[in-house]
Amino acid sequence: MARATTPQDLIITPRDRRFGRGAAQARWWMAGDPVATAYYNALSATFPKGEAYFVESVRLFRDGTPPKLAQEIKSFVTQEVMHSREHVQFNKRALEAGYDLSGLEARVEWRLSISRARPPIVNLAATMCLEHFTAILAHQLLKNPRHLARADAESAALWRWHAVEEIEHKAVAYDTWLHATRDMSRWKRWKIKAKVMLFVTRNFVVDRSLGTLELLRQDGITGTRAWARMLWFAWVRPGMMRKILGAWLAFFLPGFHPWNQDDRALIANEDVRLQAQGEAYA
Ligand SMILES: [Fe+2]
Ligand SMILES: [Fe+2]
Repeated sequence: MARATTPQDLIITPRDRRFGRGAAQARWWMAGDPVATAYYNALSATFPKGEAYFVESVRLFRDGTPPKLAQEIKSFVTQEVMHSREHVQFNKRALEAGYDLSGLEARVEWRLSISRARPPIVNLAATMCLEHFTAILAHQLLKNPRHLARADAESAALWRWHAVEEIEHKAVAYDTWLHATRDMSRWKRWKIKAKVMLFVTRNFVVDRSLGTLELLRQDGITGTRAWARMLWFAWVRPGMMRKILGAWLAFFLPGFHPWNQDDRALIANEDVRLQAQGEAYA
């Protein structure tokens, strides 16, 4: 497969939006369902620390990049910083609704402290892999309206806004990685990225599952019942993990580039919608 490159006319545009300020959020904001809520809350708990790590990992390699990429890194940083700002607020609302996220946050901190002890290029590789992960989750979230169909409107808007920008900047870490490893052989590059992807995927699945189970425990759902409901939600219906499997596998193909899949139409659709909603909330 011939490798695509980041579209020349792509302009990464940070959308400075705020969501749910001053509004109480129902404990089960997601479809009135504790499992769906726990799943998304567990993901949100990772964003503030996780995105700060992405930013520091990519920023270290900005010097010497071509001007277009250097500008994209700058816009990527602005977008991630705003995502963290909004997810801090979202997590605060989960706290106000009675959830304790501190255990989940401590686990993220623990994982990151192990990563940070590794060389910068490994952190860039891990970020590049996790950015692919977030981009394919974002794609699925926007492509299939079922995922957020019964969510609280403000919270759904926050997740869609985040998804838009994750798609838009999906190749920034990847292009930075390509630039930083330009003198490596293709085989060596592939070996590192495949190894790191398998590693971060395992950690992602394990940690998000444990996080979801912990939040379900706080709702009094435990044991086999909790496991079964979580696995059903993640892998069967709506089955987010099952639905992203193909896009996840594409990462290992020779010639992979995030823009081999041009999904800018999803961004354009959502921009219209977010704008209309922004006016409604103004
Ligand atoms: Fe983000
Ligand atoms: Fe991102």
